Amino acid sequence: MNGRIIITGATGSMGAAAVEALATRGVPVLMACRNLAKAEAVRSDILGRIPAADIELRQLDLASMASVRNFAEGIDAGTVAGLFNNAGVISKGYSITGDGFENTFSVNYFGPWLLTQLLLPKLPEDARIVNMVSLTCRFAPLSEQTLRPAEKDFSQLSTYARAKRALLSFSMELARRHPSLRVNLADPGIVASNMIDLGHWYDPLADALFKPLCRKPEVGVQPALRALSGQSRNRYFVGRGDKAIPVRYFTPDLDARIWAATEEAMR
Ligand SMILES: NC(=O)c1ccc[n+]([C@@H]2O[C@H](COP(=O)([O-])OP(=O)(O)OC[C@H]3O[C@@H](n4cnc5c(N)ncnc54)[C@H](OP(=O)(O)O)[C@@H]3O)[C@@H](O)[C@H]2O)c1
Repeated sequence: MNGRIIITGATGSMGAAAVEALATRGVPVLMACRNLAKAEAVRSDILGRIPAADIELRQLDLASMASVRNFAEGIDAGTVAGLFNNAGVISKGYSITGDGFENTFSVNYFGPWLLTQLLLPKLPEDARIVNMVSLTCRFAPLSEQTLRPAEKDFSQLSTYARAKRALLSFSMELARRHPSLRVNLADPGIVASNMIDLGHWYDPLADALFKPLCRKPEVGVQPALRALSGQSRNRYFVGRGDKAIPVRYFTPDLDARIWAATEEAMR
């Protein structure tokens, strides 16, 4: 692989595990993180174990399209081999970003959409693009209207599931429009990370009872790591293997409409 792998949300549980796993293999990484102090702490921790690790840090806030544009402008063509759209959030309440997007949708969908589009001209034709989706996609209806939910339509989990379903739709359409790219989906399963603390009074109880049953971040990120290092295209990486993308996600007309609605929203 020539060039860095950009990992968004590299301060998070699976993001940091991905940085360390790639660094162990000698792959240069660019941590794209909203909190640079936190990113520096993750990097120093990894350098303590892998002194030769080649890890660069840059600021990226996916809740701000100006930040996404600024990040993409700072990337030189030919220096990046792949992009792992890993960052994600399950917002507790309804909030709208400065760009007018609901926050969960901005971080999980609109931000990665714009980032990928802006980086494309700087990436090799066969660049690896791995989008982190979720088993919740299965239960999420998608339409142009769901991209920008009103407050009355917001719910913590269903808005998250719809945003991930939109990211999945984007991946399918991206692969159709750029068949030379290696676009793949990664589904980590249920992972014991900060993300599954939904901010409820019973979270400490859930931590004690539920988290031990969940995958560890180093395990949950394995499907994404396999997608990042292999030659596949349009595969769904999950568990210990990968499979054809489930037919329920073959919605080309919808994907084209979602793409057009997103382009319109970015104007
Ligand atoms: N955990 C699960 O069971 C599970 C299941 C299916 C899919 N996933 C997906 O896996 C990915 C990684 O999740 P995780 O479990 O490792 O969660 P995590 O530990 O909470 O990590 C989330 C990462 O996203 C970053 N992030 C949040 N808001 C951001 C923003 N506005 N701009 C840029 N980065 C932002 C966080 O940055 P800060 O450190 O600054 O907060 C953090 O680095 C996510 O896409 C998630 O949806 C997780």
